[in-house]
Amino acid sequence: MKNIRIIGAGRAGKAFAGALQEVGYRVDGPYSHSSDLREMSHGTDILILAVPDRSIAETAKSIEPDPDTLVVHLSGATDIDALLPHPRRAVLHPFAPLPDPVVGKDRLLSGMRFAVSGDIAVSDIVHDLGGRIIHIDDSARVLYHAAGCIAANHLVALMSHAGRVGALAGLDMDALLDLARFTLDDIHSMGVQDALTGPASRGDKDTIARHLAALNEQDRAAYLAELQLIEQMTRHVLQVPGFGHGEGVRATDILLQESRGTGSRDTSRDVEVVDQAVVLQRRLEESRSTGMQIGLVPTMGALHAGHGSLIERARRECDVVVVTIFVNPLQFNDHADLDRYPRTLEEDLNFCQERGADIVFVPSVEEMYPGYPAPPGSVVHVSGVTEILEGAFRPGHFDGVATVVAKLFAIAGRCKAYFGEKDYQQIAVVRELVREMLLPVEVVPCPTVREADGLAMSSRNRNLSPKMRKAALSLYRALLAGEKAICSSAGIDVAKKAMVVEMEKEEGVLVEYAEIVYADSFVPVGNKLGNDGERIRLLVAAKVGDVRLIDNIGVQCYHRGTGRI
Ligand code: PAJ
Repeated sequence: MKNIRIIGAGRAGKAFAGALQEVGYRVDGPYSHSSDLREMSHGTDILILAVPDRSIAETAKSIEPDPDTLVVHLSGATDIDALLPHPRRAVLHPFAPLPDPVVGKDRLLSGMRFAVSGDIAVSDIVHDLGGRIIHIDDSARVLYHAAGCIAANHLVALMSHAGRVGALAGLDMDALLDLARFTLDDIHSMGVQDALTGPASRGDKDTIARHLAALNEQDRAAYLAELQLIEQMTRHVLQVPGFGHGEGVRATDILLQESRGTGSRDTSRDVEVVDQAVVLQRRLEESRSTGMQIGLVPTMGALHAGHGSLIERARRECDVVVVTIFVNPLQFNDHADLDRYPRTLEEDLNFCQERGADIVFVPSVEEMYPGYPAPPGSVVHVSGVTEILEGAFRPGHFDGVATVVAKLFAIAGRCKAYFGEKDYQQIAVVRELVREMLLPVEVVPCPTVREADGLAMSSRNRNLSPKMRKAALSLYRALLAGEKAICSSAGIDVAKKAMVVEMEKEEGVLVEYAEIVYADSFVPVGNKLGNDGERIRLLVAAKVGDVRLIDNIGVQCYHRGTGRI
């Protein structure tokens, strides 16, 4: 009888425990992955890590390697190397949903398929469970997993859509499920091409146009996306007549046409400039109702390649890209800094257009803060993360940022919002704002863009004289010195000291802080480094002459070597 130990007491861990016990394994666990795991690989033949994908590598590292024990993870999309440093490693991915421990256990014993790779001994588990083996190259693992997700998870979304539309007609889900089962049988017996029936397969555009006209906006967007998949599969273009766009419009272009006015993305088109909040709000609501993803890039203008990287990323990931340019007086604790802040609107509009933005929002101060300079009636305050570093040196700054960002999010509605890691603490504040206020915004952090010599790009760099520009480089050098100290295990205090010394070497540089925090919680790191794999952030701020600059880098600490992230 083989001994098997399981870490991870979720659905998969419990389902495997039940099934393996039933086929004669001596099962130990499942253990919660927050238990003390160090000794877990000793005294067992097989150790299964049934933990979430993102925790596999970290869990594997926290367990002492044992040369005799086979360590296995169950993830379809995770590389086998996530199990390093264990010498005997394998992947065992059940190719079936395990929605709860009881259904999961029965399914594991039903003769189902498992994808395996790594140590050949893992195949014995599949044989013992009475299953079938799929061999997947590690290089194809992610694609294999994507295919599985389409067949299993996306099918659920399709059925949910059918159910929602059916419910409006009084049709129950069981009837739709029977229909879907017949179709799955047909795909099995005759293949996908022949299994496709209905108006889309016949090119019956009138019926499709009637469907589209009867559906509400949300369902229509989903239906059009589904037609697009059918178009890809059959390779014939579904033309939908009389749908508000004249004869013979390609069904799947309707969505694009509705959101962009002209349909195709034309980079020579003038970028749309909007200065009223309600106009932008309405414009984006319309686009969203046809299924478009909105990308928001908040800025204060004086745009440079750092901002450009956010716009380009939003362009790649979203259908409608909105750049906002607003020098927010509320976040300036220093009047001179506000007055001196560079304003280059014409250049900025060209910059946005060149990078493919669709809309630039340039509100007046009165539009954002009616009655300005009287203080606004409501100000958003995020506590905790705002109390240290920038928050401590710039009183009121983060209230100003949180207030304007909350307003911009209210105007934009559900969207992806792009922020630069150059302002690392700002991202933490915005994340907290989104979490606390349940805002429908996905915050997307983007890496810091630097000049060739390492100076972080910043709108304020325009105010540096050539001499100050040279001195400003000491911020980046300080971060490198801090990183070097940490990599040589010198301790946090030594690293902080090294950063300060590096900046103070330059005449005219007045250090404000040099701090090291845990990247996720933003809590300062004590003098001893935390756990293996912990992500930390080194941050500095200094005045170079009268220009205040900030910079930061990330480091991930391993007891056996530490690297930049
Ligand atoms: P601003 O300083 O103009 O920066 C706008 C966005 O660009 C921020 O998310 C910032 O982190 C990012 N950014 C600036 N320099 C960068 C660089 N070198 N690499 C990558 N990203 C960079 O941050 C603000 O404006 C304001 O506080 C704002 C969020 C707009 C609220 O007023």
